[in-house]
Amino acid sequence: MNNEREIPFSEPFINEDETDAVVRVLKSKWITTGDEVRQFEVEMKAYLGGIKAAVAVCSGTAAIDVILGACGIGAGDEVITTAYSFVSPVLSMLHRGIIPVFADVEDKTFNLSVHEVEGVIESRYQMKNGLMRNRLTGRTLKAILPVHFAGQPADIDGFKRLGRTYHVHIIEDAAHAVGSRYKGQPVGASGNPVCFSFYSNKNLTTGEGGMLVWDRRGVEKQLRTWSLHGISKSNLERYQSGLPYYDVIFPGYKANMGDISAALGRVQLRKLDDITARREETAQVFNRELENIPQVQIPFIHSHNQPSRHLYPLLLATEQAHRRDDLIRFLRARDIFPSVHFIPVHHHTFFKRSGLERPYLPVTDDLFRREISLPLFPGMGGEEIARVTDAVKAFWA
Ligand SMILES: Cc1ncc(COP(=O)(O)O)c(C=O)c1O
Repeated sequence: MNNEREIPFSEPFINEDETDAVVRVLKSKWITTGDEVRQFEVEMKAYLGGIKAAVAVCSGTAAIDVILGACGIGAGDEVITTAYSFVSPVLSMLHRGIIPVFADVEDKTFNLSVHEVEGVIESRYQMKNGLMRNRLTGRTLKAILPVHFAGQPADIDGFKRLGRTYHVHIIEDAAHAVGSRYKGQPVGASGNPVCFSFYSNKNLTTGEGGMLVWDRRGVEKQLRTWSLHGISKSNLERYQSGLPYYDVIFPGYKANMGDISAALGRVQLRKLDDITARREETAQVFNRELENIPQVQIPFIHSHNQPSRHLYPLLLATEQAHRRDDLIRFLRARDIFPSVHFIPVHHHTFFKRSGLERPYLPVTDDLFRREISLPLFPGMGGEEIARVTDAVKAFWA
């Protein structure tokens, strides 16, 4: 319909720096986990302000698998989380026999609400011998898993307070939030275990990949062992030590990252602040251009947060919710590819068939009907940004 290029939902910010790094690793002939991975972890720890532990893994989902295993959360335990997210953390739980329990999100930020989580805990659990037991089932609540939706940090201090009060782990799903800051501190440095994703559309990408970080002394080796079958020595350590023997000390995962991905990630990490700044600039233009359209609401950001702007979630006014798909079709007809975040976990067929109780989540259900994510990526040019905002304005004109 026109000669302009399609504006994809997302596009990686990659040039010769990344291709050179990958080729260097390929030529070295050591392409599985090795020095590049170790360096990537060291550099990420430094980027996060000198935190104590980082283990690179093959996806954000794998980071969640590893931390659930390492924290001893398993069959018959319960974890409170959000349904307004990608399904993968809930699938990780189900694979381990963990029961996900859902609490609603805040209407302004889409993030899991500390207030709602506290309500669920107070109504369902009681403390017995230092553990929170479900009054009906007797199962133990082991963790709360908030997601930093779109890269806006959730209420980390509020969740830490719940963690202390109820003796549960707080596991941060920061798939969207590498490069975000909460009260001036990088996401990843809170002292909770934090899971990053480096999937192809993420702000820092390794194609597929992720990292588990934790500002805690003494956990790194164990997390790394969990990420590689529970094997006591890595391939590189066995190669360097001269003898091929190893021992499997617990049933870990095959979750390690390889050096090809890590080489890519190291270059991306050096560019991360630039990537975040470019995304922020684009989000600011979107804000300026769209804030006066009465039918939509631009993203609300708390003043203490510096988000990574992984997504730009635009909300339609309640009375316009029925027009969301028309807007998507309108943009797609102009070669602009928006998305929707998220189809809530309990709306999926697997969940309906799982036998789990359907949660009552009015805010989640309402936000889902009204949300549309506009294309946003660091290499977006001024003309492309204008095409997106002009098209949104034209739809409502
Ligand atoms: C909120 C959230 N959590 C976890 C994941 C899983 O990350 P990965 O695709 O790297 O496994 C994603 C992926 O998009 C996500 O959006």
